[in-house]
Amino acid sequence: MQFALLVFLCSCLMWQVMESQMVYKLKKIECNPNPSRVQNVTCRLKPINWNVAEANMDCDLVEPIVRPMIRLQVLKKDYSNQFQPFLIDVKFGICDVVEKRNFFPYGLMLWKLLKRYSNVNHSCPFSGHLSTRNGNMESELLPPFPEGLFQFRITFSDSNSTNSDYLGTVKIYIQVMEAIKNKKKTA
Ligand SMILES: *[C@@H]1O[C@H](CO)[C@@H](O)[C@H](O)[C@H]1NC(C)=O
Ligand SMILES: *[C@@H]1O[C@H](CO)[C@@H](O)[C@H](O)[C@H]1NC(C)=O
Ligand SMILES: *[C@@H]1O[C@H](CO)[C@@H](O)[C@H](O)[C@H]1NC(C)=O
Repeated sequence: MQFALLVFLCSCLMWQVMESQMVYKLKKIECNPNPSRVQNVTCRLKPINWNVAEANMDCDLVEPIVRPMIRLQVLKKDYSNQFQPFLIDVKFGICDVVEKRNFFPYGLMLWKLLKRYSNVNHSCPFSGHLSTRNGNMESELLPPFPEGLFQFRITFSDSNSTNSDYLGTVKIYIQVMEAIKNKKKTA
C-alpha cells in the first residue's frame, strides 16, 4: 500500500516537473486592423532565445474605444496543416473584466497580460496610442496545452446594445513545446 502511494506521489511530482518544462513560444504575429478605427499599426516579434520571443505592437486609435469586446478563438494545426478549432471560443467585454464585473478566466488571463506588457493598464475607455512591449505568453497563465502549433485569434470590436464596430484581428501563433535546454546544462 505505502509503496503504491509512494509511486503515485513520485509520478505526480515527475509530471509536475515535465509540465513546467513546456514552453509557449511566440512564432508569428499578424495584425489586420480596420483602418477607419485603428491606424499606424506595427506588430513585431523579437527573438530572445530558443524558447522565447517577445511581442512589440503599436497602434493609434482614430477615436476612443468605448466598449471593447473581445472574441478569443484558439485553433490547432492538424496533420493536414489546417488550423482547426481547439476547445476555446469565447467572447467577453474587457471593461467588465477591468472593472471587476466579470471574473471570466480567459478575460482575466488577457487582462493580466495587458497589465504586465502594455499601456492598456487602466479602466475604459481606451484612446490614443496603444502599445505592448516585450510581450510574452506565460505558460503559468494558460491551462496545460498539448504540444503543437496553435493560433490564438483575437477579434476586437467596439459594441453597444445597438451597434458593433469591427476594430481588427490579431493572430498570434504559438508553438507549445518542451523547453530547449542549454546544452551545457543537460547531463
Ligand atoms: C498616424 O501617424 C501619422 C504620422 O505620424 C499621424 O499624423 C496620424 O495622426 C496618426 N494617426 C492617428 C490615428 O493617430
Ligand atoms: C501603465 O503603463 C504605463 C506605461 O507602461 C506606466 O507608466 C504606468 O505606470 C502603468 N500604470 C499602472 C496603473 O500600472
Ligand atoms: C451605439 O453606437 C452607435 C455608433 O457609435 C451610436 O450611434 C449609438 O448612439 C450608440 N447607441 C447606444 C445605445 O449607445
